[in-house]
Amino acid sequence: MRILSKSNNGLLMLAMKTESVSKGEYLLIKDNSSGIKLIVQVFDEEYLPFQSLIDDMIREEIAAASSSECIHDPLNIGLISNLLRDARIYHTKIRGCIDGSGLLTTESSGLPSRVNSTVSLLKISELHALVDKTRNYPITLGTGGIANETISISAEDLDGKLNIITGRKECGKSHLSKLLVKTLLEHGGYVVVFDLNDEYQGLAYNSDRSPSNVSSQILRVGVGQALSFSLEYCGKATIFNLLKNALDMPSASLREFMRIWDHLESRKSLNLASIENAINTWNINEFVREALISRFHTIQTSRLFCDDKGTSLKFEKVLSRMKSGAAIIINMAEDPPIIRRMIVELALGKLVELLEKTQIPPVFLFAEEAHLYIQDTYWEDIITRMRHFGIYATFITNQPDAIDDGIYRQVDNIFLFNFTNDNDLDKISKVSLADNDTIRSIVKTLPQRSCLAIGKAMYNLPVVVRVASVQVMTLGETRKFFPTQQN
Ligand SMILES: Nc1ncnc2c1ncn2[C@@H]1O[C@H](COP(=O)(O)OP(=O)(O)OP(=O)(O)O)[C@@H](O)[C@H]1O
Ligand SMILES: [Mg+2]
Repeated sequence: MRILSKSNNGLLMLAMKTESVSKGEYLLIKDNSSGIKLIVQVFDEEYLPFQSLIDDMIREEIAAASSSECIHDPLNIGLISNLLRDARIYHTKIRGCIDGSGLLTTESSGLPSRVNSTVSLLKISELHALVDKTRNYPITLGTGGIANETISISAEDLDGKLNIITGRKECGKSHLSKLLVKTLLEHGGYVVVFDLNDEYQGLAYNSDRSPSNVSSQILRVGVGQALSFSLEYCGKATIFNLLKNALDMPSASLREFMRIWDHLESRKSLNLASIENAINTWNINEFVREALISRFHTIQTSRLFCDDKGTSLKFEKVLSRMKSGAAIIINMAEDPPIIRRMIVELALGKLVELLEKTQIPPVFLFAEEAHLYIQDTYWEDIITRMRHFGIYATFITNQPDAIDDGIYRQVDNIFLFNFTNDNDLDKISKVSLADNDTIRSIVKTLPQRSCLAIGKAMYNLPVVVRVASVQVMTLGETRKFFPTQQN
């Protein structure tokens, strides 16, 4: 392989057919005269773009089609011509260079020689060895690279970080998310999942339906299944936010509701029945009363509240009981949008309060299709304020345009599955984590169950990973009318 030319931070490499490499792979360019060592990543490939080669091929095809004569070629010119036709140009991006101490740096090292440079393929393990970092809590993502090696990230790289898993439908996003949840549990982490397909409970079972190694760490809750809170446990601030954000209560009605709350709290009779009674008898404007009644009706029918403090779900109790890590899986599969918003508001509000009081350790939040239940205004809050307290979010979506630009700018890691739609790719390539060319070219041709891992977890060196299978019960498949044929 030879360097052909350079433009901005890209190098064009000339290669023979026998030297072919796949998109996403890394090359080490070593200039033996100056000592420069460059690391580049292949993001696209093409044939030699010369018109004369194409003309020759057309001429030859026409000659072969119109005559059966054997072409006499004593000097074997045809062989050279074939080599030329099969030669290819690789488009690469410079990812860094190796400094005197053998570590990867992004500082410019100058141009390597086109004559004296040698080019070799780099294994992912060799690439990661150039980064001075130890991994104490590895998460095996899958395999990749020229040697089909195991590719891992570190749980520390998700700690305190914002992550996005995105890609088109049924390409394996939830599967990767489950793999991350399972490994975080194995490392003793605390996880909260907003589950839209009731599929994460499968983590508790192996594929043969026996309990998995993390089954004792999983608590699945949902409306009517242990997901109910007493008003006292929620507290005034959480209920205020619930009414304001999830139930769009006008501010005048909010004020009255809080007065009712304070009154009942001081009399130690804070329960659903006394609130209802107070709303009906309180001396207030009738419009305000209407607003209060309609919201209270939603609260009452949601089945999210209970008067009994004993049956109320208490996050701190669950997490302290499960000392070696826990996942609270909040099943929202059958809930209407308003109930989902209420659940999210209550859960996040309470978690933030408990984190503020340091009553629980930091939690990893996995939110599937969060745009369906988290309002636009709330996104920023989760990733800025809540992150500060210790809620580290991973958003999983097949609609990248549902996520605000402000979030993309703060994202630390992206696991990008296949996308063919240019609009979707445009949105993601705005992220400064990887360049537009790399994303567009690699992601469009990614096979199913493979993703491009970009960001801090990968030391800012994008890597294509074939995601490993997880030995747990797979749930959440799309229900089909026609049975699929088993091979
Ligand atoms: N790496 C993998 N190894 C084995 N099976 C996989 C892998 N990735 C995905 N699958 C399987 O492929 C199917 C679709 O995967 P998954 O549900 O994760 O896709 P998705 O992108 O979340 O889909 P949707 O957009 O519908 O939510 C599932 O049955 C899952 O178990
Ligand atoms: Mg999914």
